[in-house]
Amino acid sequence: MTATDTTEVKKITIVLATGNPDKVREMRPLLENISPLIEIFCLRDLGAEIEVDETEKTLEGNALLKARAIFTHLAGRFRYMIALADDTGLEVDSLQGAPGVYSARYAPMPDGTPPSYEDNVRHLLERMQGIVDRTARFRTVIAMKGRVPGETEDFSFEQTSAGSVGGTITTEKRGNEGFGYDPLFVPDSTGRTYAEMGIAEKNTMSHRALAVIKAVADLKTILEMHSFSTTAFQPRP
Ligand code: IMP
Repeated sequence: MTATDTTEVKKITIVLATGNPDKVREMRPLLENISPLIEIFCLRDLGAEIEVDETEKTLEGNALLKARAIFTHLAGRFRYMIALADDTGLEVDSLQGAPGVYSARYAPMPDGTPPSYEDNVRHLLERMQGIVDRTARFRTVIAMKGRVPGETEDFSFEQTSAGSVGGTITTEKRGNEGFGYDPLFVPDSTGRTYAEMGIAEKNTMSHRALAVIKAVADLKTILEMHSFSTTAFQPRP
């Protein structure tokens, strides 16, 4: 900006409100090109790896809980910020929707420690031994809590969006990519598990990608309503 230029360049920070590096790896590429004036950080980038207990009974509730907690924690550091949180569950029809909202804590652990991905995968395969109906769906809810520039004053909002993908559960692990239950989940009409795809291919169809794409569309609408350009506007040197 020159001394005579009164245009303030307003930057917005999106914080990925998760301590899970696997989710960050998937979400980052889907968010990177909204605007050159939007920068993306994860909690680790900011040295803010706080844990938020998932105490709600729905994915929506837990996603909002995480977005609100991280927003409150970091709101003093950024004028314009959006905390974006993901909560995901795998819902198996023959298990009446389990593990669902409890997907991260599915396998019972004798010492009370959180189960690993491997523990949860083993537990699901055991629970489904001999079950013929193996239909399931992955569901993600993305919650955003934000404060963005408005024409005359700042605008605060909360927003949720969901993405869901149907598929089937395999009888054994297949593939080495991805994380969590990926080696067991075959999205409909693909014939391969998520773990047999790379991130780029998973991002063309996944539950998380669908929810993030909707969140980005909602965010663009909110920003444009408040005169923040999401086109390729470059700040003046
Ligand atoms: P949460 O959303 O952090 O509660 O995560 C729920 C659990 O579901 C994670 O610990 C993973 O085991 C699993 N999970 C979440 N997203 C995915 C995914 O995209 N693929 C496979 N497993 C996932």
